[in-house]
Amino acid sequence: MGQLMQLVDPIMDRAMAPGQGATKNRTPEKPQYDTDFTTRVIAATGSKAHPRLAEIMPSLLRHLHDFAREVGLTVAEWASAIDLINACGKMSDDRRNETQLLCDILGLESLVDEITSKKLATSTTETPSAILGPFYRNDAPLLPNGSSVVHNLTPSVPWYNQAVADSAYVTGRVLSCASGGGARTPLRNAIVDVWHTAPNGLYEQQDTDQPEMNLRGRFATDADGRYSLYCLRPVAYPIPDDGPAGQLLALLDRHPWRPGHIHFIVSAAGHRSLTTQIFDSRDEYINNDSVFAVKEELIVKFVPREGDPKAKWALEYDFVLGPMQEEVEETDQSAAFL
Ligand SMILES: [Fe+2]
Repeated sequence: MGQLMQLVDPIMDRAMAPGQGATKNRTPEKPQYDTDFTTRVIAATGSKAHPRLAEIMPSLLRHLHDFAREVGLTVAEWASAIDLINACGKMSDDRRNETQLLCDILGLESLVDEITSKKLATSTTETPSAILGPFYRNDAPLLPNGSSVVHNLTPSVPWYNQAVADSAYVTGRVLSCASGGGARTPLRNAIVDVWHTAPNGLYEQQDTDQPEMNLRGRFATDADGRYSLYCLRPVAYPIPDDGPAGQLLALLDRHPWRPGHIHFIVSAAGHRSLTTQIFDSRDEYINNDSVFAVKEELIVKFVPREGDPKAKWALEYDFVLGPMQEEVEETDQSAAFL
C-alpha cells in the first residue's frame, strides 16, 4: 500500500478536477490505486466455499475496500483499528462481551436485529423487536400473574425511596396475528420473560447487593392472553464505558447512556419469539440512545395508579406475535458459520 500511495502526486491529484486528462506539460494521470485489486480478492474465494459466505463476501469486500480507498486509510490507522478489536476480544468473557458492545455503539446490532425481524415478519402489526442486550438470563423463575419481580425491598436498600416512587403495575395481552386480515387473537400460556435494572442502573448480576434473580421473572398468560406483574419504572443507565468501546465513544464525543427500558422475550407455541424492549417516554435519553434501539412503537407512557398500595404507576402494553416460519428460520440458522 505504501508503495502504491507513493506513486500518487497528491498535489496533482487535488489540482485536477474529475474528468480532466493529462496536459502536454504533465505525465498522463495514473489510476490512484490498482483497479483490479478488489476483483482479484473476491475471485480468490473457492468453489467449495460456504454458500452463504460465498454470497455475502463479495459485497463485504467491495464495501471494505471502497471504505479504505475513500478515506485514504493509512497503515497506522488500520493498526489502531486492529488494536481496538483485539482489546475488545481480550476484555470479553462469560460476563462481558465487549465486541458486541462495540457493535452496539456503532448501531450494528440494532440494524441486524431490524433486518432479521423484517425478514421473518409476516405482518406489519407484529410488535417490533429490539436487541437482546448482554444481561439476559434464561432461567428466571416462573411467577404467578400479579406477583412482583422486586425482591427484598426494605428501607435499608439505598434506592428504596426511588423504588417506591417508581413502583409500577404492568399488564397486557399476548396476541397472535397469525390468522391474517388484521385480526388479533389472544394467546393462552404464552410466556412473558421480563428483566430490568434496579434504580441504581444495575442488573442483579452486576450488583452483589441485589438478591439472585431480582427484577426478573417469567409469567404465563391466562385464558384471555393476559399477563400482569409488579415491577419498577425503568431508569437510564450508562453502558459499560471503561473498555475499548467506551474509549471509542469518548473519541467520538458521545455519551454512554441508554434511556430507561424494560426487556422482554415473549414466546408462544407456533409463533416466532419476540425479543424486545419498551422505553419510558419520560426519559431524557429517549431520542438519544447510545445503542440506537428505540423505536416509536416501543415508547410507552406510564399513568398514575390509584388505590393500589403496591404501585404508584400503571402501564398496559400488548405484544403481537407472528407465526413461526420454520423454513425461513432454518435458513437463518444456517448462517451461523463458526
Ligand atoms: Fe438493558
